[in-house]
Amino acid sequence: MLFPLVINFFMAVICYIITVRLIPRLKDKFIKANLFGIDMSKTTSDKIPESLGVVTGCTFLITMFLFIPVPFGNSLLYKANFPQDEFVKYIAALLSICCMLFLGFADDVLDVPWRHKLLLPTIASLPLLMVYYVSFNSTTVIVPKPLRDMFGTSVDIGLFYYLYMGMLAVFCTNAINILAGVNGLEVGQSVVIGLSIIIFNVIELFGNLSKAHQFSLYFMMPYVAASLALLKHNWYPSSVFVGDTFCYFSGMTFAVVAILGRFNKTALLFFIPQVFNFLYSAPQLFKLVPCPRHRLPKFNSKTDRMECSLVVFKYSEINVLGKLCLTIFRKLKLIQWKEKSDTIITNNFTLINLVLLYTGPLHEAKLTSYLIAIQVACSVLALIIRYPFAWIFYDV
Ligand code: UD1
Ligand code: MG
Repeated sequence: MLFPLVINFFMAVICYIITVRLIPRLKDKFIKANLFGIDMSKTTSDKIPESLGVVTGCTFLITMFLFIPVPFGNSLLYKANFPQDEFVKYIAALLSICCMLFLGFADDVLDVPWRHKLLLPTIASLPLLMVYYVSFNSTTVIVPKPLRDMFGTSVDIGLFYYLYMGMLAVFCTNAINILAGVNGLEVGQSVVIGLSIIIFNVIELFGNLSKAHQFSLYFMMPYVAASLALLKHNWYPSSVFVGDTFCYFSGMTFAVVAILGRFNKTALLFFIPQVFNFLYSAPQLFKLVPCPRHRLPKFNSKTDRMECSLVVFKYSEINVLGKLCLTIFRKLKLIQWKEKSDTIITNNFTLINLVLLYTGPLHEAKLTSYLIAIQVACSVLALIIRYPFAWIFYDV
């Protein structure tokens, strides 16, 4: 079991070295291809190459392809014992990730509308769900001890389990993309999630599902390595932007290991800040409250600090549901509120703005560091929930 993992680790290190050198060399090519953005939080308006996540994705995929002979090499020599089912899992996982990388890149180039952003990951996750159906088809959920009198020890939720896994792929891909807008945040949060999954896999490596966790590690180590290389160039002050390509690629990689590594509920625990950001953003995402094209914090060039970005609207134009959300957010002190007759001025509903609301204006690098610290703290919380807490509620 250890040999392929050790090889995978060294291949991940090589993947990091190649990616970190490749990115600066390809920057000009991206600008020539009109793939660039302007950093809205800087005084200069230099062209910053965008969608460099595609380079990370490609070096990751190449590493994964080159790795195939390592776990399957022995079986290739003795064809009769070739583990077809393991191989199909590996290939389907790569297919889903590859599809999402392609769709993410298409999104960066063509600017796909929002509703399609929900559809694309659903379709890209189908090969994965098929393999899950053929290999495991386990749709049983263990009931927590306090509810066992009502529901029994376990409940088979059938089709809903597949619905949940499909939604997990959609959520993972989009949740990272909407917690974005300050240098290094998209990749920073993804690296923390990736490292948290690695820690969890290592803890579980000697448990009953060791094969599944080993499978997850094969993907996670090269993923984290390639992403760290991107982070080096995307950290403040960013010399490249990651693009939606990276967010989609990351989200799908997490969904793949969660589903085929058989920890799709634990995986969601590593997304606590993203779940919060999604719920907090929901009134704007579902257009109950106006949602500008960009919700990233506002840069104050005089102080070199980031401030909450604001949204202005007429209270009378908001529907009942929107008004209810606004009231709840105000009661929970999640938003600032300025009222001038019918006109309301409040902050955009993102976790980034919420941090700024409580800390006051911050330098961009410090803001990213705070948000990454929140992600790390939530991962620690996730492991506490998964272990000491789970021992209270389940027979583990
Ligand atoms: C998502 C967010 C949007 C946020 C944007 C920033 C939602 C619904 N959408 O949109 O609010 O403004 O991400 O990435 O929440 N940029 C910077 N600095 C950075 C990163 C990005 O200025 O550190 C700017 C650049 O101009 C870059 C652009 O954002 O070109 C990329 O935005 P894009 O990824 O296309 O936005 P969305 O993912 O659609
Ligand atoms: Mg984006």
